[in-house]
Amino acid sequence: MSGFSAEWLALREPADTAARAPQVTDAVATALAGRTPLRVADLGCGTGSNMRYLASRLPQPQVWRLLDHDAALLATARTLVPQAVDTRVADLRDLDAAAFEGCDLVTASALLDLVSEAWIRRFASLCRDAGAAVLVVLNYDGRTECTPDDVDDEAVRALVNAHQRSDKGFGPALGPDSGARTAQALTDAGYRVIVEKSDWVIGPDQAELQRQLMSGWADAAVELAPAETGRIRAWQSRRLAHVDAGTSTVRVGHDDVGGVLG
Ligand SMILES: C[S@@+](CC[C@H](N)C(=O)[O-])C[C@H]1O[C@@H](n2cnc3c(N)ncnc32)[C@H](O)[C@@H]1O
Repeated sequence: MSGFSAEWLALREPADTAARAPQVTDAVATALAGRTPLRVADLGCGTGSNMRYLASRLPQPQVWRLLDHDAALLATARTLVPQAVDTRVADLRDLDAAAFEGCDLVTASALLDLVSEAWIRRFASLCRDAGAAVLVVLNYDGRTECTPDDVDDEAVRALVNAHQRSDKGFGPALGPDSGARTAQALTDAGYRVIVEKSDWVIGPDQAELQRQLMSGWADAAVELAPAETGRIRAWQSRRLAHVDAGTSTVRVGHDDVGGVLG
């Protein structure tokens, strides 16, 4: 199990779609013009949200390979994506060149904050060796902003960001540094890199997404600071009361990163 449910991925998909930086996708799509068919690998694809966003924005025709270690998510993806795809159950902790073989584009969405510096360096060099462009989006950048504000927002955010840096299976996670470190690794590997912000702005109309996000933050904070449980759960209650009252908005910072060769 990955810990990412299909329900959670469905809940976040509209926020992801609204947040993504079109300039980054467009720059990569332009660089890929003329590759026929366009061969794309999506790492940590979940239920295929990234493909649903990209299929109409990249040159046609396309051949997609979706990789994830969660077979159930891949099975759901096959029913939700706009064309037939090659799905592969793959543990991406140990990247090997086969994942990228023959690809024009390697992409990933909401994955790279889980990985380590060593992983991202290997990723960049394997993509370069395959001659593939790169599009890695919705990399958490450490910023969260809740409105109305609360006296303990900053304390919880600091704990969440510390938790983000813990090992998610790939070594010490890049967490809030993932976008910047990815951009640097791609630059060092010889890519021309474009980075734009792709923040979630989640309004009162997305109350359930807010609830689950805040509950996840509180759980992560308690895990890291059990002695602060009372204070953290009180913060959670106050935040959820704003959500229930329809007065809560949350911004979560992300980076979209594109890399093209030549
Ligand atoms: C935050 S979800 C993002 C899913 C999808 N890209 C999206 O944007 O909706 C992270 C994805 O990475 C996958 N994942 C986590 N660790 C993995 C691993 N070691 N190998 C392969 N996939 C992994 C999870 O199963 C999950 O689908």
